[in-house]
Amino acid sequence: MKTEAVIFDLDGVIVATDDCHYRAWKRLTGEEGIYFDAEINRRLRGVGRMDSLAIILEKAERTYYPEEIKALADRKNAYYRQFVQELTPDCILPGVMVILTELRKKGIKIAVGSSSKNTPLILERIGLKDYFDVVVDGNDLTKSKPDPEVFLLAAERLRVAPSHCVVVEDADAGVEAALAAGMRVIGVGTAADNPRVTWRAATLAVFCPEEFCHLLGC
Ligand code: BG6
Ligand code: MG
Repeated sequence: MKTEAVIFDLDGVIVATDDCHYRAWKRLTGEEGIYFDAEINRRLRGVGRMDSLAIILEKAERTYYPEEIKALADRKNAYYRQFVQELTPDCILPGVMVILTELRKKGIKIAVGSSSKNTPLILERIGLKDYFDVVVDGNDLTKSKPDPEVFLLAAERLRVAPSHCVVVEDADAGVEAALAAGMRVIGVGTAADNPRVTWRAATLAVFCPEEFCHLLGC
């Protein structure tokens, strides 16, 4: 199968923001007296902000009103954006830039497909604001991963058929979204253990760029 475009998830694929999300949720839940741990944090990977909060509130000892839920989400986001200010181009994960450069050289389109509404801020912090052909993020979406909307919209904006797109994902929700969009998937990080991925690797750094393109049929 020919590959004409590669769509990268942002958090956990291009840059490690997991710890920033974890610290922000930890602070919020600490203030609210809601139980939260690393295991619950793992369930939030790839999942949109409000859906993540719904998972966190499963442990709450009382019911929260809709306006309180909105205020909690805003508070978490304020903490998160504070932590994200610490990101620099050095936080781009190993292997990412060489692969992006090689794909560019070969004329393959590159996109970001993320659930995060903070994607513009993060891309700016790591110096990749204007780098991608297309960016689809949480601000464009009505449904969060595992719904395929994010990747289908990216393919449409790239003008590439979904079957000619490959997604790089670190979250099971993202793997499901990509497969539901009819795309092939490279699972990295925790998604490398997902039996449904097309290819797997602990990190993108294990690929030499030419080998990566050959594998995908670029
Ligand atoms: C995803 C993260 O990329 O974005 C999730 O993996 C996060 O953990 C989601 O909840 C939404 O992020 P944001 O920045 O819009 O709160
Ligand atoms: Mg991710």
